[in-house]
Amino acid sequence: MIIEVRSKNETLALAKLFAESISPNEKGPLVIALQGDLGAGKTTFIKGLARGLGIRKNITSPTFLMVRRYEIPRHRGGFKNFYHVDAYRMSSARDLETTGLADALRDKRSIIAVEWADRIRKNLPRKVIRIAIAHQKENERTILFSTKK
Ligand SMILES: Nc1ncnc2c1ncn2[C@@H]1O[C@H](COP(=O)(O)OP(=O)(O)OP(=O)(O)O)[C@@H](O)[C@H]1O
Ligand SMILES: [Mg+2]
Repeated sequence: MIIEVRSKNETLALAKLFAESISPNEKGPLVIALQGDLGAGKTTFIKGLARGLGIRKNITSPTFLMVRRYEIPRHRGGFKNFYHVDAYRMSSARDLETTGLADALRDKRSIIAVEWADRIRKNLPRKVIRIAIAHQKENERTILFSTKK
């Protein structure tokens, strides 16, 4: 599915709607793999996602920390933790362990949103929701949703 957005606010609103449509997922963590160039809007989308999950804390880019965890209020949809991951600088299996991402991936009650997901593709489960954001012009983006790897 491809959706065109014309502003940052439309991206936020779309992500919020998407978050609200997440239903309990029986098998393991729900991984949302985001792709898109620098400034495409990956973090913006994740901010909307977090809002849609009821998280009130301000989502800041986890660039240096690589992984940030937020508690999902009232454990919406049965999910307890929301992880925001920036895989830009991740490479080794050691990074996966030291950042806590490996634990998150073992936690069935987690939602894990990964920026630059392709960089750690082989460490992610086979089933992920892929979101590819492409910069069109100024404030326009196309957002592609798919479940294929
Ligand atoms: N339609 C849009 N959707 C999202 N962001 C937009 C849109 N139009 C303009 N922007 C602007 O583009 C920038 C997107 O920044 P954001 O940090 O979300 O990108 P990113 O993909 O996470 O980048 P990075 O690769 O550096 O992590 C913001 O400054 C935002 O205001
Ligand atoms: Mg970002």
